[in-house]
Amino acid sequence: MSDTRLNIALGSGAVTLPPEGRIAVFRPHGDADLSDLPGDRVHVIQGFRPDHDAFVASGYDTGVAPDGAYSGALVFLTRSKIEARALIAQAAGFGGVVIVDGQKTDGIESILRDIRKRADVGEVISKAHGKLFAFRGGDFSDWQPDPAGHAIAGGFRTVPGVFSADGIDPGSAVLAAALPARLSGRIADLGAGWGFLAREILTREGVSQLHLIEAEHAALACARVNVTDARAQFHWADALQFAPDVPLDAVVSNPPFHTSRAAEPAIGRAFIAAAARMLKPSGKLWLVANRHLPYEAEAALHFLDVQEVAGDKRFKILAAAKPRRGRH
Ligand SMILES: C[S@@+](CC[C@H](N)C(=O)[O-])C[C@H]1O[C@@H](n2cnc3c(N)ncnc32)[C@H](O)[C@@H]1O
Repeated sequence: MSDTRLNIALGSGAVTLPPEGRIAVFRPHGDADLSDLPGDRVHVIQGFRPDHDAFVASGYDTGVAPDGAYSGALVFLTRSKIEARALIAQAAGFGGVVIVDGQKTDGIESILRDIRKRADVGEVISKAHGKLFAFRGGDFSDWQPDPAGHAIAGGFRTVPGVFSADGIDPGSAVLAAALPARLSGRIADLGAGWGFLAREILTREGVSQLHLIEAEHAALACARVNVTDARAQFHWADALQFAPDVPLDAVVSNPPFHTSRAAEPAIGRAFIAAAARMLKPSGKLWLVANRHLPYEAEAALHFLDVQEVAGDKRFKILAAAKPRRGRH
């Protein structure tokens, strides 16, 4: 057990858990310490594959959506306010105590203010740039999004919390415009999101198979709606772990650049290494990155031929060919 806000709240009696029944734990990071909760009553709800797998490996009952009844819930705040509200509304709908934990940078203070207008909030534990509190009751039905998602320009559907939920990402648009007219063979879109780039890739001549590899379950579910081409194959997977059955002819990617608010180029670099591993010797990687992100050196570590082939003031498009063998 560690000195977390949850540990302090339960230890001091500021928050009490229901004596029986399942406890839904929404969106914990893979390294979150849940040891203060009764493990056999916990249902972890986490759609991000690396975090999901971490809880499975620790022996927790783990899913991607609530199922059945719960006597209480613990919500870890997400960066997207609409998604955070949706989780709180779901949790409040179970009818028991709802514990909310979050960082200031993720908006815990404004969520606390909003919840106080609707429900009885208990003692607030403040520690480590975040807060934890519990509430009961209240009507949060207007925080529930439409389960069918919403339509955005271009005829796509998205749900709150997925990357670029309100429209096509400008970086992906620049990459799509730079892709060649022909992209033959087996292709993968690493970090396919709700499917914008995938749909663009499928318009190119010669594509025989397209693997959409995406770690966020909800985003991949949107991609299944947005990309109905029979050549598409959907993988709820960590791109860093995914291994295609047959080496690929091309990888196209707008890689993630953070897991928290700060930019973390390490993730993009890991995507470059993963792409090199998936490609056949004649295969090629097409990648978009914010201009300030230093990916060229990593690309040169894994590919013999790296070129900036297009871009604008904000984004650069790198094409990397001739993956080096034995480097990854
Ligand atoms: C910058 S977005 C690009 C999304 C999409 N290709 C588009 O153009 O709209 C990166 C995507 O990578 C996903 N992602 C993050 N980490 C991942 C991982 N380890 N494995 C697979 N996908 C991941 C994110 O959920 C997000 O959808």
